[in-house]
Amino acid sequence: MRRFVIGRGRNFLNRSHQQNLLSSSSSHCQSRFLSSTSVIDSPSSSSMAPTSSPAITVDSLNPKVLKCEYAVRGEIVSIAQRLQQELQTNPGSHSFDEILYCNIGNPQSLGQQPITFFREVLALCDHPSILDRSETQGLFSADSIERAWQILDQIPGRATGAYSHSQGIKGLRDTIAAGIEARDGFPADPNDIFLTDGASPAVHMMMQLLIRSENDGILCPIPQYPLYSASIALHGGTLVPYYLDEATGWGLETSEVKKQLEAAKAKGITVRALVVINPGNPTGQVLAEENQRAIVDFCKKEGLVLLADEVYQENVYVPEKKFHSFKKVSRSMGYGEKDISLVSFQSVSKGRYFHFFSKW
Ligand SMILES: Cc1ncc(COP(=O)(O)O)c(C=O)c1O
Repeated sequence: MRRFVIGRGRNFLNRSHQQNLLSSSSSHCQSRFLSSTSVIDSPSSSSMAPTSSPAITVDSLNPKVLKCEYAVRGEIVSIAQRLQQELQTNPGSHSFDEILYCNIGNPQSLGQQPITFFREVLALCDHPSILDRSETQGLFSADSIERAWQILDQIPGRATGAYSHSQGIKGLRDTIAAGIEARDGFPADPNDIFLTDGASPAVHMMMQLLIRSENDGILCPIPQYPLYSASIALHGGTLVPYYLDEATGWGLETSEVKKQLEAAKAKGITVRALVVINPGNPTGQVLAEENQRAIVDFCKKEGLVLLADEVYQENVYVPEKKFHSFKKVSRSMGYGEKDISLVSFQSVSKGRYFHFFSKW
């Protein structure tokens, strides 16, 4: 099978696509908006001629949204989609017959099989009436059936639905807290855990909490995963870059972070938080424990919230490197939540765990 593999592209909002989208939908939006406002605003407005300018255009969008760049969707992806369309309508029109999308980290698109257990448990929890059917024993594994019962027993009314506790189902948070405790060897409080539909919404929530105006800055690694630059732009803050050093395996030097912090302060920026992606994306680096201690001390001294993106905690591919959570590192230094404000982001989209973030 010949495949055409695309890499990462640029520009979250593809301007031309946006333009098409807006202009094709604008006439529909316009007529809806006009008819609804006409009832409220003026009884005689039924005679009003429709205005010619669309209610929403690229120029009238929230400029903060336009400032966002999200490199994993962009021009290269648009080209790939066009090629895919061409392959569909005209098979054999290219020297390849399939496109593999590598711009988003979806292991299944590269042939990795989904983990059956999670899917079975989810299916059973969402459709509990099949738990009582005899054929379910043949279709689902005994482990999945047992786990589904365990989970349903923790959910009020024994049913998943549209809403739950706003931090996430307490029983699940208890289980996650127990997992964190086992990982780190320090107590974890389920009330410090917030389940979200992806690490990305959790990052957005933190930016929303921290950024009050463009004078608030967030220290971010460069290179970075573009979620951070996009989220800071969306919430109207200032990205304060610090540069990872390729020569030292993309190491994070606190002296470099300090330099950038001081430069930002000199420009009148109040730096509120330091983002550390460990293990790194896109760099893949895994921080040494010693380095993490220096980062924790730096945040404590400078009064910064440490935003630890730890979504790749299981993705360490070199035997001599080991992942250490910032929670474990800071606790082993004797620091509690009064000493350091730490938020850790975790994710299930890398194949294993539930999306959640936790603060300590
Ligand atoms: C470093 C990093 N943080 C956060 C995310 C987003 O995670 P989620 O898919 O749970 O929103 C990703 C996704 O690839 C990532 O690479």
